Amino acid sequence: MKAIQFDTYGDSDVLHLTEINKPQPGENEILIKIAATTVNPFDMKVRSGSMQKMIPLNLPWIPGSDVAGRIEAVGSGVSRLKVGDEVFGSTFGGTYAEYVVIKEESAALIPNNVSLPEAAALVIPIVTSYTFLVTGGELKEGQRVLIHGAAGAVGGIMVQIAKALGAYVIGTASRGGLELAKSLGADEVIDYKNQDFTQLVKDVDLVIDLAGGETQAKSFAVVKKGGKLLSAVMPPSQELAEQYGINAQFISSEPSHKKLEFGVKLVEEGKVKTQIAKILKLEEAGKAQDLVTAGGINGKVVLEVN
Ligand SMILES: NC(=O)c1ccc[n+]([C@@H]2O[C@H](COP(=O)([O-])OP(=O)(O)OC[C@H]3O[C@@H](n4cnc5c(N)ncnc54)[C@H](OP(=O)(O)O)[C@@H]3O)[C@@H](O)[C@H]2O)c1
Repeated sequence: MKAIQFDTYGDSDVLHLTEINKPQPGENEILIKIAATTVNPFDMKVRSGSMQKMIPLNLPWIPGSDVAGRIEAVGSGVSRLKVGDEVFGSTFGGTYAEYVVIKEESAALIPNNVSLPEAAALVIPIVTSYTFLVTGGELKEGQRVLIHGAAGAVGGIMVQIAKALGAYVIGTASRGGLELAKSLGADEVIDYKNQDFTQLVKDVDLVIDLAGGETQAKSFAVVKKGGKLLSAVMPPSQELAEQYGINAQFISSEPSHKKLEFGVKLVEEGKVKTQIAKILKLEEAGKAQDLVTAGGINGKVVLEVN
């Protein structure tokens, strides 16, 4: 099968097309013929080598964490899904390819009203939104949430899910992202390039940090006592958390079919819509990664495989 891989860490030109053997599913795994995967910022963090101490890889490495496609084979312990099902799900590495094996636990049937590329674009945003808003954030109806990066690939879906949960949503974005976040349901939007959110927001129950850096450091001041600051990007200061009397954590979202099924319901009810910024071919993976790195895209960059 064809796959994109890298043999050394570096910038996007280390990615190249190669031919490798098709993987085979183990006991609780499914083999998916991939229709689409997407570019996540994590792919570039891994490719650049900046995470090699935390996550050492055995090179060569096939990037990619999310997938949508048709099941071609299943392991002997698989019972919920079957050959021929159109599924979406996630794993760590291996999806910039024609086939991938993932755990049955990490896959679900796609929503009945989206295409496979649209489904691929929903995987990481749904799993991350569930992990941060529901499991970690315990967001309740009527609570106030501030989402940094509200027009990004994850943020755009998170805004919609937070609204579906009945929250009051404030989002930070820039340029065209401001209008987009508003159209996705954000009650208030703040231009992070031209406005100081600390002057405009206070007493939120929950901050979701999809930006990191100074944005995270400034966010402690806008959370009400006893509230939460959850980061998808970097561990927050525990001294500041204690000083402000809030719970601040970095969370890494684990895949699960239950999280995906929660999103499937919202998508089928029309409460969550996919945000695709661009669709490229698998062979254009390097260009696709550079597009995401450059920023300002607002939505998912999808790689179609055929
Ligand atoms: N921990 C986890 O489990 C987990 C899961 C998924 C994603 N993540 C991480 O979450 C981050 C976002 O992922 P993504 O796929 O949504 O990326 P993305 O599509 O590139 O979106 C990032 C968004 O953040 C905005 N942004 C940049 N700087 C900002 C700032 N200072 N304040 C507010 N917004 C800002 C960008 O807006 P402009 O384009 O206008 O600059 C962009 O819309 C990445 O770092 C990713 O690795 C972590």
